[in-house]
Amino acid sequence: MALIEWEDSYNLGIEHLDNQHKGLVKQINILHAAMKIGKGKESLDEILKALINYTATHFKSEEELFFQYNFPDSKKHIAEHEKFVKEVLKFKEDFDKGRLMVSIDVLHFLKGWLINHILGSDMGYKSFLLSKGVR
Ligand code: FEO
Repeated sequence: MALIEWEDSYNLGIEHLDNQHKGLVKQINILHAAMKIGKGKESLDEILKALINYTATHFKSEEELFFQYNFPDSKKHIAEHEKFVKEVLKFKEDFDKGRLMVSIDVLHFLKGWLINHILGSDMGYKSFLLSKGVR
């Protein structure tokens, strides 16, 4: 069973952002599956890199829309993105140095952060961007 099952309540109604969120869920599920079957460090490293790159692309997409439409809460939202990126990069650094394993705790952190962020902060821009005609 996948660590995260996509639910309709996660949808924003903005297609490319919803697709990116689904992509992030997929990346975390891939990491979870790889950890469960005991994949080696090299494979986990590749998956982590893909997750980090995908996250950066997604945050950039949201932030570009914030600037384009002058979203009033962008500062707080971007700060959340930056904090998450910092934590994941720190995790990756520790993983690279052999100080940390990909564990179920790490996966639950990623899952918790993503779902809480989508349902909390991302839902906070939903009606604003929809009102600007973004789909
Ligand atoms: Fe969908 Fe603010 O990340």
